Amino acid sequence: MKTLIKNATVVTPTETLQTSVVVDGTKIVDINPAMQLSVDETIDATGLHLIPGVIDDQVHFREPGFEHKEDLRTASFACAKGGVTSFLEMPNTNPNTTNQQRLNEKLQLASDKCVVNYGFYIGATTDNLDELVAAQRTPGIKIFIGSSTGNLLVDEQAALERIFAETTLPITAHCEDETTVRANTAKYADIHDVAIHSQIRDHAAAEIATRRSLDLAKRHRHRFHVLHVSTANELPLIANHGNLITAEVCPHHLFFNIDDYARLGSLVQMNPSIKNKVDNQALWQALLDGTIQVIATDHAPHTLEEKDQPYPKSPSGLPAVENSLALMLNQVALGNCSLQQVVQWMCDAPARVWDMLDKGRIQVGYDADLVLVDLERKHVIRNEQQLTKCRWSPWDGAELTGCAVRTLVMGQTVYRDGQVDGDVRGHEIQFDHQRGGFWATT
Ligand code: DOR
Repeated sequence: MKTLIKNATVVTPTETLQTSVVVDGTKIVDINPAMQLSVDETIDATGLHLIPGVIDDQVHFREPGFEHKEDLRTASFACAKGGVTSFLEMPNTNPNTTNQQRLNEKLQLASDKCVVNYGFYIGATTDNLDELVAAQRTPGIKIFIGSSTGNLLVDEQAALERIFAETTLPITAHCEDETTVRANTAKYADIHDVAIHSQIRDHAAAEIATRRSLDLAKRHRHRFHVLHVSTANELPLIANHGNLITAEVCPHHLFFNIDDYARLGSLVQMNPSIKNKVDNQALWQALLDGTIQVIATDHAPHTLEEKDQPYPKSPSGLPAVENSLALMLNQVALGNCSLQQVVQWMCDAPARVWDMLDKGRIQVGYDADLVLVDLERKHVIRNEQQLTKCRWSPWDGAELTGCAVRTLVMGQTVYRDGQVDGDVRGHEIQFDHQRGGFWATT
């Protein structure tokens, strides 16, 4: 099947220009082709921008084990609607993804159910070093250096040293210091106002754990990606380590702060916790200056009934995968960043960080994971329109300008004007970890 996407304003790695893109099968085969071309389908994209599909490198899709919150099919529908064509999913499912067999099982489930492309991290425990060393078909190793949802935790220094010393896959971590969080939990045990969450999981908890993991990464010269940076304090620690250390920020840490507990309560209870307005501003600045390279969502759905329980029974996490691109396009509309920057943060950089083959760019030979966006379209996020199984968004009621109107996964249209085509199947993401990471590839 050959498709011509014509008259779009196309964001390529080097420029943004009005041109046409030709897709043959799963690949981009030409940009700005000769006029006479015989194709099976022509998409007239006049007035629209064409960008690479978003790659979300941190999601929790709950299957297996917690399918009442989300499953791989509903989550992938939400991705398609949001312009997310590839995701990397975390290991805190039930059972946890801590060996090759569990990885293979998830990959099989995804190939049966997902309408977008997929990859799965392997989770570290204190005693699965052999599995981590031998793991294949995975972007890398996830360590919960501080515990969050689920029971994965590696806090002992000796175990961490072994993982950083003896494995070769890139490592990523949830950085909140367990000792600090436990001490604060005891200190504030009598307080049930959810706003206390940001004092329990405080600035120091994030800073101590990030400092600790960066120390490990630097001493062992091990590639390391800091997940969901939430504080200004962590930024000087992660800056200027070249290819060794990369970092990510989530929309909720950019756009929510402790003032939002009054309006949203446990809907904005997350780990790491949301912080202060000055942190919002510093994180935004860190994106602009390149200290942080990636935007990901940490999509972590829980049902509203679960969220309604009094703190601390209310679980941490919020869904975001179907709104993250629109939230960032709205920033473009507000003049706070450019579309090229959004593409860099959400498409290109995650592909480089995780050594993905042929993803994240509109370039000949790359995969035809593509999104047509309307930068002018105004819309309102509504709980009842969410495709995530939990059917709510902390941004319910937000009026945004700009959204995905059509999403292609490996050359096939999977989402168009409100409808997901459930017959499309995503592909397993391919990784080439010999490439050497973020700065080494062009
Ligand atoms: O708030 C969170 N929820 N943070 C995490 O790291 C895990 C996630 C979840 O799985 O619910």
